[in-house]
Amino acid sequence: MTYIVNEKCINCRYTDCVEVCPVDCFYIGENTIVIHPDECIDCGVCEPECPAEAIQPDSDMDENLEYWLEINRKFSEIWPNATQKRPPLPDADSLNPAMGYEEDKTNDLSENPGPEE
Ligand code: SF4
Ligand code: F3S
Repeated sequence: MTYIVNEKCINCRYTDCVEVCPVDCFYIGENTIVIHPDECIDCGVCEPECPAEAIQPDSDMDENLEYWLEINRKFSEIWPNATQKRPPLPDADSLNPAMGYEEDKTNDLSENPGPEE
């Protein structure tokens, strides 16, 4: 069992989530973040912290969940660990699905790593 980050994080990357994770299992990319599924202890603390509502449990009956679980697994092995909050990306609020942005951001994922701490 794990939580995962889905496409809603892309180009927002608020990073409120990383500050509350008790096991530091977030890994940061150029324009999103992922959770390492084998390190997550399924505590659920991060889910309500995300302003984009991008975090969900893998118990959700979401048709895209398997896809995002694999994205989280793949990039958590490659990208740097993130434990400190950073400023959101520049257009975060205007691209935030929880604030009314309606386009699917799946294809906007950058595979480039984010900044080291
Ligand atoms: Fe970290 Fe808990 Fe969120 Fe998993 S569910 S990523 S352990 S805060
Ligand atoms: Fe992304 Fe939400 Fe964390 S936008 S960086 S999952 S707080």
